[in-house]
Amino acid sequence: MARSRRRRHQDSFGRRAKREGHLARSVYKLEEIDRRVRLFRRGHRVLDLGAYPGSWSLYAAKKVGLEGRVLGLDIQPPTAATPANVELRHADIYEVDPKDFGTFDVVISDMAPSTTGNRFTDQCRSFDLFMRALDFAEALLPPGGSFVGKLFVGPDFDAARDRLRTLFVQHRIIRPKATRNESIEAFLVGLQRKEVVASTLDAETADPEQL
Ligand SMILES: C[S@@+](CC[C@H](N)C(=O)[O-])C[C@H]1O[C@@H](n2cnc3c(N)ncnc32)[C@H](O)[C@@H]1O
Repeated sequence: MARSRRRRHQDSFGRRAKREGHLARSVYKLEEIDRRVRLFRRGHRVLDLGAYPGSWSLYAAKKVGLEGRVLGLDIQPPTAATPANVELRHADIYEVDPKDFGTFDVVISDMAPSTTGNRFTDQCRSFDLFMRALDFAEALLPPGGSFVGKLFVGPDFDAARDRLRTLFVQHRIIRPKATRNESIEAFLVGLQRKEVVASTLDAETADPEQL
């Protein structure tokens, strides 16, 4: 596709988002990922990291229905009106403890750093956000749970994918059509959280008298 045609195609997602009343064009990225891997079921509990302005949370809320719930966290205070099954909270994911949030069936992260113009710095910050999102997934998902996380692809890509593999039975790398052409982002998807086995750390820190 020629460059200007590609650009028009990408902008059409922005126009469509406005027309269809979505808070952000990024909703079409989650929609495509969901269509391809079937992330949500009715009654699911979903944690949305980097939720502002809220298009992913509202999409997930529709899919899980009123018997499900969605909690969205972002360093930007929420502004969107939400249905009863959605709560948007002001929080920096580096300053909260994942264990304070209960359990979830799906953890999704569209978190992105404020870009600096230095590609390497932006990739490093995106990698840190991605790994922090995986900390939440590791702490909060029961066996069988699913994860989606955005990553600016860079030198740390293999480390991110390797950690995803240790936690999930299946993994996919998806670059949705709504992603801007010039963007270096991709979404790493983990399906079926593995059974949690007691870690060697637990054994090392356990009271030797009790072993
Ligand atoms: C691309 S936007 C998310 C758009 C959202 N998925 C939607 O569809 O409406 C990325 C978000 O990540 C958030 N973010 C970046 N660093 C964060 C942090 N440390 N804690 C929480 N959110 C963070 C930003 O504030 C920004 O709102």
